[in-house]
Amino acid sequence: MEPYRPDNLLDRLSSDDTLELQYAQVQRRERELLEQYLGIAGGDVLSVGCGTRPGRHLFPAPSFRLVGVDVDPEKVRTSVEWGGADEAFVGRAGELDQLEDASFDVVLYRLTLHHVAYQEPLARSFEEAARLLRPGGALVAVEPGLWHPVGAALSIVNRSPSLAVRVHGTPDDVPLSPRALRSESRRVGLEPEIHAVTFTWRRMPRALQRAVWRLDRRGSSRALAPFGHHLMLIARKPRGS
Ligand SMILES: C[S@@+](CC[C@H](N)C(=O)[O-])C[C@H]1O[C@@H](n2cnc3c(N)ncnc32)[C@H](O)[C@@H]1O
Repeated sequence: MEPYRPDNLLDRLSSDDTLELQYAQVQRRERELLEQYLGIAGGDVLSVGCGTRPGRHLFPAPSFRLVGVDVDPEKVRTSVEWGGADEAFVGRAGELDQLEDASFDVVLYRLTLHHVAYQEPLARSFEEAARLLRPGGALVAVEPGLWHPVGAALSIVNRSPSLAVRVHGTPDDVPLSPRALRSESRRVGLEPEIHAVTFTWRRMPRALQRAVWRLDRRGSSRALAPFGHHLMLIARKPRGS
Protein backbone atom coordinates (compact mmCIF):
# COMPACT_ATOMS: atom_id res chain seq x y z
CA MET A 1 0.00 0.00 0.00
CA GLU A 2 1.03 3.60 -0.54
CA PRO A 3 2.00 5.56 2.60
CA TYR A 4 -0.82 7.71 4.02
CA ARG A 5 -0.14 11.42 4.57
CA PRO A 6 -2.19 12.48 7.64
CA ASP A 7 -1.59 16.18 6.98
CA ASN A 8 -4.04 16.32 4.06
CA LEU A 9 -6.80 18.82 3.30
CA LEU A 10 -9.80 16.64 4.18
CA ASP A 11 -8.35 15.32 7.44
CA ARG A 12 -7.60 18.89 8.53
CA LEU A 13 -11.29 19.73 8.00
CA SER A 14 -12.80 16.66 9.70
CA SER A 15 -13.39 16.15 13.42
CA ASP A 16 -13.04 12.73 15.03
CA ASP A 17 -16.68 12.83 16.19
CA THR A 18 -17.86 13.31 12.61
CA LEU A 19 -15.73 10.44 11.34
CA GLU A 20 -16.79 8.12 14.18
CA LEU A 21 -20.48 8.76 13.56
CA GLN A 22 -20.11 7.48 10.02
CA TYR A 23 -17.96 4.49 10.97
CA ALA A 24 -20.67 3.42 13.43
CA GLN A 25 -23.37 3.77 10.77
CA VAL A 26 -21.32 1.73 8.29
CA GLN A 27 -20.95 -1.10 10.81
CA ARG A 28 -24.66 -1.00 11.71
CA ARG A 29 -25.65 -1.16 8.06
CA GLU A 30 -23.14 -3.91 7.21
CA ARG A 31 -24.63 -6.10 9.96
CA GLU A 32 -28.21 -5.35 8.85
CA LEU A 33 -27.46 -6.21 5.23
CA LEU A 34 -25.65 -9.44 6.03
CA GLU A 35 -28.35 -10.56 8.47
CA GLN A 36 -31.01 -9.91 5.86
CA TYR A 37 -29.33 -11.04 2.64
CA LEU A 38 -26.31 -13.31 3.22
CA GLY A 39 -28.14 -16.42 4.40
CA ILE A 40 -24.99 -18.03 5.87
CA ALA A 41 -25.19 -18.51 9.64
CA GLY A 42 -21.78 -20.06 10.26
CA GLY A 43 -18.67 -21.53 8.69
CA ASP A 44 -15.20 -20.54 7.53
CA VAL A 45 -14.44 -16.94 6.54
CA LEU A 46 -11.27 -15.74 4.79
CA SER A 47 -10.72 -12.01 5.31
CA VAL A 48 -8.36 -10.82 2.57
CA GLY A 49 -6.61 -7.55 3.44
CA CYS A 50 -7.70 -8.21 7.01
CA GLY A 51 -5.81 -5.23 8.46
CA THR A 52 -6.14 -4.88 12.21
CA ARG A 53 -9.93 -5.33 12.09
CA PRO A 54 -10.55 -8.52 10.14
CA GLY A 55 -14.35 -8.36 10.29
CA ARG A 56 -15.25 -10.03 13.60
CA HIS A 57 -18.14 -7.55 13.96
CA LEU A 58 -19.70 -9.20 10.91
CA PHE A 59 -18.76 -12.83 11.51
CA PRO A 60 -18.89 -13.54 15.25
CA ALA A 61 -17.32 -16.50 17.06
CA PRO A 62 -18.04 -19.29 17.62
CA SER A 63 -20.38 -19.59 14.63
CA PHE A 64 -17.68 -18.38 12.25
CA ARG A 65 -14.00 -19.34 12.08
CA LEU A 66 -12.21 -16.23 10.84
CA VAL A 67 -8.89 -16.49 8.98
CA GLY A 68 -7.08 -13.27 8.07
CA VAL A 69 -4.49 -12.59 5.39
CA ASP A 70 -2.68 -9.33 4.73
CA VAL A 71 0.49 -8.10 3.00
CA ASP A 72 1.52 -6.32 6.20
CA PRO A 73 3.01 -8.68 8.87
CA GLU A 74 2.33 -6.20 11.70
CA LYS A 75 -1.37 -6.10 10.80
CA VAL A 76 -1.48 -9.89 10.60
CA ARG A 77 -0.16 -10.08 14.16
CA THR A 78 -2.59 -7.43 15.46
CA SER A 79 -5.57 -8.98 13.69
CA VAL A 80 -5.18 -12.07 15.88
CA GLU A 81 -4.15 -10.29 19.11
CA TRP A 82 -6.77 -7.51 19.05
CA GLY A 83 -9.03 -8.03 16.05
CA GLY A 84 -10.34 -11.44 16.97
CA ALA A 85 -9.15 -13.43 13.96
CA ASP A 86 -8.74 -17.11 14.83
CA GLU A 87 -5.61 -17.25 12.73
CA ALA A 88 -3.86 -15.06 10.17
CA PHE A 89 -0.93 -15.17 7.78
CA VAL A 90 1.02 -12.90 5.46
CA GLY A 91 -0.08 -13.11 1.82
CA ARG A 92 -1.25 -11.14 -1.18
CA ALA A 93 -4.69 -11.15 -2.82
CA GLY A 94 -4.60 -13.24 -6.00
CA GLU A 95 -1.54 -15.21 -4.84
CA LEU A 96 -3.04 -17.46 -2.14
CA ASP A 97 -2.19 -20.68 -3.96
CA GLN A 98 -1.46 -22.53 -0.71
CA LEU A 99 -5.18 -22.47 0.18
CA GLU A 100 -7.25 -25.41 -1.03
CA ASP A 101 -10.09 -25.09 -3.52
CA ALA A 102 -13.58 -24.85 -1.96
CA SER A 103 -12.28 -24.34 1.59
CA PHE A 104 -14.28 -21.24 2.68
CA ASP A 105 -17.94 -20.28 3.04
CA VAL A 106 -17.21 -16.55 2.78
CA VAL A 107 -14.33 -14.67 1.16
CA LEU A 108 -14.42 -11.15 2.61
CA TYR A 109 -12.79 -8.12 1.02
CA ARG A 110 -13.62 -5.31 3.44
CA LEU A 111 -12.13 -2.06 2.18
CA THR A 112 -9.41 -4.04 0.40
CA LEU A 113 -10.33 -4.24 -3.30
CA HIS A 114 -10.12 -0.46 -3.73
CA HIS A 115 -6.43 -0.74 -2.77
CA VAL A 116 -5.87 -3.82 -4.93
CA ALA A 117 -7.36 -1.89 -7.88
CA TYR A 118 -4.48 0.57 -7.60
CA GLN A 119 -1.97 -2.32 -7.80
CA GLU A 120 -3.49 -4.46 -10.57
CA PRO A 121 -6.80 -5.34 -12.29
CA LEU A 122 -9.31 -7.02 -9.97
CA ALA A 123 -9.50 -10.18 -12.11
CA ARG A 124 -7.12 -12.31 -10.03
CA SER A 125 -8.88 -11.49 -6.76
CA PHE A 126 -12.27 -12.49 -8.17
CA GLU A 127 -10.88 -15.69 -9.73
CA GLU A 128 -9.25 -16.60 -6.42
CA ALA A 129 -12.44 -15.97 -4.42
CA ALA A 130 -14.45 -18.15 -6.82
CA ARG A 131 -11.86 -20.93 -6.47
CA LEU A 132 -11.75 -20.75 -2.66
CA LEU A 133 -15.52 -20.68 -2.10
CA ARG A 134 -17.59 -23.76 -1.40
CA PRO A 135 -20.79 -24.09 -3.45
CA GLY A 136 -23.44 -22.02 -1.63
CA GLY A 137 -20.73 -19.68 -0.28
CA ALA A 138 -20.33 -15.99 -1.07
CA LEU A 139 -17.76 -13.35 -1.83
CA VAL A 140 -18.60 -10.30 0.31
CA ALA A 141 -16.95 -6.98 -0.51
CA VAL A 142 -17.48 -3.60 1.13
CA GLU A 143 -15.87 -0.86 -0.94
CA PRO A 144 -16.26 2.84 -1.86
CA GLY A 145 -18.53 3.34 -4.89
CA LEU A 146 -17.58 5.27 -8.01
CA TRP A 147 -21.13 6.41 -8.79
CA HIS A 148 -21.59 8.33 -5.51
CA PRO A 149 -20.76 12.03 -6.01
CA VAL A 150 -17.84 11.76 -3.56
CA GLY A 151 -16.50 8.65 -5.30
CA ALA A 152 -16.72 10.38 -8.67
CA ALA A 153 -14.92 13.46 -7.32
CA LEU A 154 -12.22 11.28 -5.73
CA SER A 155 -11.55 9.48 -8.98
CA ILE A 156 -11.03 12.84 -10.72
CA VAL A 157 -8.62 13.99 -7.99
CA ASN A 158 -6.79 10.62 -8.25
CA ARG A 159 -5.79 11.41 -11.83
CA SER A 160 -3.02 13.48 -10.26
CA PRO A 161 -1.33 11.32 -7.58
CA SER A 162 0.35 14.35 -5.95
CA LEU A 163 -3.00 16.18 -5.76
CA ALA A 164 -4.64 13.02 -4.33
CA VAL A 165 -2.05 12.91 -1.54
CA ARG A 166 -2.62 16.58 -0.71
CA VAL A 167 -6.42 16.28 -0.78
CA HIS A 168 -7.09 12.91 0.90
CA GLY A 169 -3.73 11.50 1.99
CA THR A 170 -3.14 8.72 -0.58
CA PRO A 171 -3.46 7.97 -4.29
CA ASP A 172 -4.35 4.28 -3.74
CA ASP A 173 -7.95 4.80 -2.72
CA VAL A 174 -9.77 3.89 -5.94
CA PRO A 175 -13.62 4.02 -5.85
CA LEU A 176 -15.06 0.99 -7.66
CA SER A 177 -17.75 0.85 -10.30
CA PRO A 178 -20.80 -1.23 -9.29
CA ARG A 179 -21.04 -2.35 -12.92
CA ALA A 180 -17.46 -3.66 -12.83
CA LEU A 181 -18.09 -5.47 -9.52
CA ARG A 182 -21.11 -7.19 -11.07
CA SER A 183 -19.38 -8.08 -14.33
CA GLU A 184 -16.22 -9.42 -12.63
CA SER A 185 -18.46 -11.60 -10.42
CA ARG A 186 -20.38 -13.02 -13.38
CA ARG A 187 -17.17 -13.64 -15.32
CA VAL A 188 -15.96 -16.03 -12.60
CA GLY A 189 -19.35 -17.77 -12.21
CA LEU A 190 -20.66 -15.91 -9.15
CA GLU A 191 -24.17 -14.41 -8.89
CA PRO A 192 -23.87 -10.81 -7.71
CA GLU A 193 -26.14 -8.42 -5.87
CA ILE A 194 -25.20 -4.88 -4.90
CA HIS A 195 -26.46 -2.96 -1.84
CA ALA A 196 -25.67 0.55 -0.66
CA VAL A 197 -24.22 0.33 2.84
CA THR A 198 -24.57 4.09 3.23
CA PHE A 199 -24.99 7.23 1.18
CA THR A 200 -23.29 9.28 3.91
CA TRP A 201 -19.70 10.46 3.67
CA ARG A 202 -17.53 10.50 6.77
CA ARG A 203 -16.76 14.22 6.25
CA MET A 204 -20.44 15.28 6.15
CA PRO A 205 -21.65 17.40 9.07
CA ARG A 206 -23.26 15.13 11.66
CA ALA A 207 -26.78 16.57 11.26
CA LEU A 208 -26.63 15.93 7.52
CA GLN A 209 -25.32 12.38 8.08
CA ARG A 210 -28.28 11.66 10.37
CA ALA A 211 -30.69 13.04 7.76
CA VAL A 212 -29.17 10.80 5.07
CA TRP A 213 -29.63 7.68 7.25
CA ARG A 214 -33.25 7.66 6.08
CA LEU A 215 -31.99 7.08 2.54
CA ASP A 216 -29.68 4.31 3.77
CA ARG A 217 -32.78 2.30 4.72
CA ARG A 218 -33.54 2.14 0.97
CA GLY A 219 -30.00 1.01 0.13
CA SER A 220 -31.18 -2.28 -1.36
CA SER A 221 -33.50 -0.65 -3.90
CA ARG A 222 -32.26 -1.61 -7.37
CA ALA A 223 -32.44 2.01 -8.52
CA LEU A 224 -30.53 3.52 -5.58
CA ALA A 225 -28.07 0.80 -4.53
CA PRO A 226 -25.39 1.48 -7.19
CA PHE A 227 -25.07 5.08 -5.96
CA GLY A 228 -23.99 4.26 -2.40
CA HIS A 229 -20.85 5.79 -0.98
CA HIS A 230 -19.99 2.38 0.47
CA LEU A 231 -21.24 -0.54 -1.60
CA MET A 232 -21.71 -4.11 -0.45
CA LEU A 233 -21.27 -6.80 -3.08
CA ILE A 234 -22.65 -10.23 -2.21
CA ALA A 235 -21.63 -12.62 -5.00
CA ARG A 236 -22.78 -16.20 -4.46
CA LYS A 237 -21.30 -19.40 -5.77
CA PRO A 238 -24.24 -21.48 -7.00
CA ARG A 239 -24.95 -24.73 -5.18
CA GLY A 240 -24.07 -27.70 -7.38
CA SER A 241 -21.30 -25.76 -9.17
C1 LIG B 1 -8.24 -0.08 4.50
S1 LIG B 1 -7.45 -1.50 5.15
C2 LIG B 1 -8.87 -2.52 5.56
C3 LIG B 1 -8.58 -3.41 6.71
C4 LIG B 1 -9.76 -4.28 7.20
N1 LIG B 1 -10.23 -5.19 6.15
C5 LIG B 1 -10.89 -3.42 7.71
O1 LIG B 1 -12.04 -3.62 7.26
O2 LIG B 1 -10.65 -2.57 8.58
C6 LIG B 1 -6.80 -2.32 3.70
C7 LIG B 1 -5.92 -3.49 4.05
O3 LIG B 1 -5.61 -4.21 2.84
C8 LIG B 1 -4.25 -4.62 2.87
N2 LIG B 1 -3.84 -4.83 1.47
C9 LIG B 1 -3.62 -3.90 0.52
N3 LIG B 1 -3.31 -4.50 -0.65
C10 LIG B 1 -3.35 -5.84 -0.43
C11 LIG B 1 -3.14 -6.99 -1.26
N4 LIG B 1 -2.83 -6.86 -2.55
N5 LIG B 1 -3.27 -8.21 -0.71
C12 LIG B 1 -3.58 -8.35 0.62
N6 LIG B 1 -3.78 -7.30 1.45
C13 LIG B 1 -3.68 -6.06 0.92
C14 LIG B 1 -3.54 -3.48 3.60
O4 LIG B 1 -2.30 -3.88 4.15
C15 LIG B 1 -4.57 -3.10 4.65
O5 LIG B 1 -4.39 -3.80 5.86
